[in-house]
Amino acid sequence: MKENGKEERLIGSAEELNKFVYLHAPFCETSRLYDPPVPINHKMAAKADVLPGGHFVKRNGRILLSFYTMARMEEIWGKDCLEFKPERWISKGECIIHVPSFKFVAFHAGPRNCLGEGSEFHSNEDGCHCYNQELSCTSGGKSSYFDK
Ligand code: HEM
Repeated sequence: MKENGKEERLIGSAEELNKFVYLHAPFCETSRLYDPPVPINHKMAAKADVLPGGHFVKRNGRILLSFYTMARMEEIWGKDCLEFKPERWISKGECIIHVPSFKFVAFHAGPRNCLGEGSEFHSNEDGCHCYNQELSCTSGGKSSYFDK
């Protein structure tokens, strides 16, 4: 947008974007239910081990982790696990609820957790933020979609 001949930067800072709870929550819910680009992850044991749940894994034994299935398990997400519900990520105080990465596994968990998780959310939210402002600019200050 140009104001007084100057290019105005409309994108918020990372801190500002983090406050967009109603933008962040749908992204979390989309990543939980529909996104996983890694629907099934697998790991191989470098040596024989016992998993925290008590399962023995022999050396070179392969472990399959179905992130797709985990997003659809009642034991993990409750009875409404199949529903797209961004509100499950929002507290009564209208803050984002922190969900441990071993439960919300779209970005994996532990030492091999996705290093791009933060930037992925940030770029998505940035994109929507710009899109919204673009709409505001092109419709005389009224956003035709997000302000409905
Ligand atoms: C929706 C977007 C994304 C999803 C769902 C995602 C998911 C994942 C998952 C599941 C892994 C673990 C793979 C494994 O088992 O080794 C991973 C690893 C990784 N991701 Fe992402 N990722 C996303 C975007 C990004 C972006 C944008 C970047 C870079 C800016 C990135 C950088 C990495 C890196 C470097 C690793 C390897 C971490 C390691 O092995 O130590 N990811 N990601």
